[in-house]
Amino acid sequence: MKKRNLVVANWKMHPETLEEAKKIFNSSRLAAKTLKNTDVVICPPFPFLQPLSKLEHPKNLYFGAQNICSEPEGAFTGEVSAVIIKNLEAKYAIIGYSERRAIGETNQIVARKLQTAYDGGLIPILCVGEKSRDRDGSHLEFLRNQIKECINSLQRKHLVGMIIAYEPVWAIGKSYKEALGATDVHEMTLFIKKSAGEIVGMDLAESFKILYGGSVETANDDDIMEKGNVLGFLVGHASLDTKAFPSILKVADTKK
Ligand code: PGA
Repeated sequence: MKKRNLVVANWKMHPETLEEAKKIFNSSRLAAKTLKNTDVVICPPFPFLQPLSKLEHPKNLYFGAQNICSEPEGAFTGEVSAVIIKNLEAKYAIIGYSERRAIGETNQIVARKLQTAYDGGLIPILCVGEKSRDRDGSHLEFLRNQIKECINSLQRKHLVGMIIAYEPVWAIGKSYKEALGATDVHEMTLFIKKSAGEIVGMDLAESFKILYGGSVETANDDDIMEKGNVLGFLVGHASLDTKAFPSILKVADTKK
């Protein structure tokens, strides 16, 4: 079956009010309505999840959390569990985002969160990506290890169609000029599938849905969508822009 394109909006810690959140959401919702081949996942800050999910939205628009607790339940002050998220009508969770890894989330914690997401009925979006690049290619080894440690404990049934967002950390939060070029994105998607294939077998790795993230804007979205061998994007700052994000969604939808 043909995989549907996918665009994930990571709002991070924005905006400051529900009123602004509704405005941004409204533009995404209207754009999502016009799409034929693409699903959209909006990941707002936790407190906005429920009020936004109550607003009218098309069937191809889903909600996701930006993070979940690694434990399914218990006394974990300040944490939010997969089940709580699921009960708020959300379907997805971003796991292992680089900004969380930067504050101590190891591959082992990420692996645990993936399992907790599945157990709680959520679909995880696993983020991987190297912090920097060098000429001798050690970033490839870093990435291979990251993939291995995050997925090697997962059951086969969970690995089918797994969503992996490749986000080179050095390209996040910049501008399209500093994002990875489409040809390099293509190469990295092959590398990710090959690395995953070494652990779980190529048949499963081929089923993976690879997104690119890191300064996706209206100036580079079409090139990456056309030549990058990706199913879509994980969009940060541009997902808060009520003009740019609808345009990115339309570009993503052009890929058949
Ligand atoms: P950015 O963030 O688009 O602002 O670089 C990427 C992301 O949130 O995945």
